[in-house]
Amino acid sequence: MIVAIDGPSGTGKSSTSKAVAAKLGLSYLDTGAQYRAMTWWMLSNGIDVDDAAEVATAADKPTIVSGTDPSAPTITVDGTDAAGPIRTQEVTAAVSAVSAVPEVRARLVELQRSAAAAAPNGIVVEGRDIGTTVLPDATVKIFLTASAQARAARRNGELNGKEAADLAATQAALVKRDAADSGRKTSPLAKADDAIEVDTTDLTLDQVIECVVTLIEEKRAAR
Ligand code: DC
Repeated sequence: MIVAIDGPSGTGKSSTSKAVAAKLGLSYLDTGAQYRAMTWWMLSNGIDVDDAAEVATAADKPTIVSGTDPSAPTITVDGTDAAGPIRTQEVTAAVSAVSAVPEVRARLVELQRSAAAAAPNGIVVEGRDIGTTVLPDATVKIFLTASAQARAARRNGELNGKEAADLAATQAALVKRDAADSGRKTSPLAKADDAIEVDTTDLTLDQVIECVVTLIEEKRAAR
């Protein structure tokens, strides 16, 4: 059972994916965290993230390891816990540039496919290009959407007041990142033809989880 969950930021992808994996006894992989980990390593090692050639050359250097238990997902870079540092504004601002570099994608897609192949009972993999590129044969493909306004409000809520900007600034930053992620040449953010689109604008998290679990169970029953 391979479940691909794609969509732009702020649609509830991570919370939904983790909860669905836990409910169904599946592993869980946050591929965005891997792109963030790569970006954090680049920033920490003095790589100019706007120089694609420099990023490409460095892409095979960091060792990135993801723990796939949905109740306690982990990510380490060269053995160091990276869960905190990958969520800073500095990393968020640089991650689209790093993730547009084909060598970065090739490296991480390989890790993602190995994680899916190694999952004992199946896996929920969340990202931007899982259904289109990473796991095109996934059993179920979900594409989550929501209005830009709803997504910005959720993102500000997640930041817990710590780094939260005003709503308009958060929304502008989200829209900018989506445009970069959707517009890049190598496997952009896109809905696979056979993905089921779920608009989460007016749904609670529990309703989204319920909806995705039902879609997976229907698929299971049909097989
Ligand atoms: O899901 P997230 O916001 O943590 O993802 C961070 C960035 O990583 C996102 O802006 C684009 C990139 N990303 C990607 O290019 N492909 C993926 N499969 C997942 C994330």
